[in-house]
Amino acid sequence: MTAEPARSVDDAAAGTGSSEGSPRHIAIIMDGNGRWAQRRGLPRIAGHRKGIEAARTVVKTAGALGIEVLTLYAFSSENWSRPASEISDLMDLLRRFIRKELEALAEEGIRIRVIGDYQAFEPDVVELIDRAIARTETNSKATLVVALNYGSQSEITQSVRKIAADVAAGTLKADEVTSSTIERHLSTDGLPPLDLLIRTSGECRLSNFLLWQSAYAELYFTDTLWPDFDEQSLRDAVSDFSQRERRYGGL
Ligand code: IPE
Ligand code: IPE
Ligand code: MG
Repeated sequence: MTAEPARSVDDAAAGTGSSEGSPRHIAIIMDGNGRWAQRRGLPRIAGHRKGIEAARTVVKTAGALGIEVLTLYAFSSENWSRPASEISDLMDLLRRFIRKELEALAEEGIRIRVIGDYQAFEPDVVELIDRAIARTETNSKATLVVALNYGSQSEITQSVRKIAADVAAGTLKADEVTSSTIERHLSTDGLPPLDLLIRTSGECRLSNFLLWQSAYAELYFTDTLWPDFDEQSLRDAVSDFSQRERRYGGL
């Protein structure tokens, strides 16, 4: 995707949203790695490892399907509450993934963008992420957004804080604040509206992911555990989406 102005729910209601056919923007809560491993008597890290392979496959499939933006929830701001050993394993996998896949992703024309406070990661991981963003900055075939240390409530809070500061400074009037003002201060600014939100592993919750952005997203929950989510799984979700009728409150 290229830099295109964010569209609000109002714009979508006016008929410019993707009401049928293919989604432009898909987000996935990649859940179930631990259970996948547990069921095989393996350590949780084995599930995360397999989960990374699934993510790679899904990026390729999304490209083949012409999806403009794929947003993957890789680490939530709440995931810090996991044992230190698991967090360290996840960071190692992230390092390895970037080192191994960055060139291929860049060659495929994918632009990498990150949402979430990844600056809180170890300095070498921050450096790798910055390198991935810079290396793919000029790509425009598709965008891969990775949510790292992301939490939606904190994202909205930060947006509100910036707006409040502008109002306090007198550069913005309180009654000029619209939903677009809030959107412009979110980390997803400039991305097309979220069309389809997928969560694997049978859990039916958002876990602090894209709360604002999913206002009119179609939700798709599948029992498939993330490491088992393959090309066909994504095709199934997209085909389910294409059968949905989006009404945005209208008839
Ligand atoms: C999702 O799988 C990956 C991350 C949250 C990083 P989980 O690790 O949450 O797997 P389950 O939910 O315990 O099976
Ligand atoms: C959501 O999964 C976060 C990611 C997939 C990165 P969790 O496994 O952390 O969510 P909860 O704890 O079940 O809500
Ligand atoms: Mg989980």
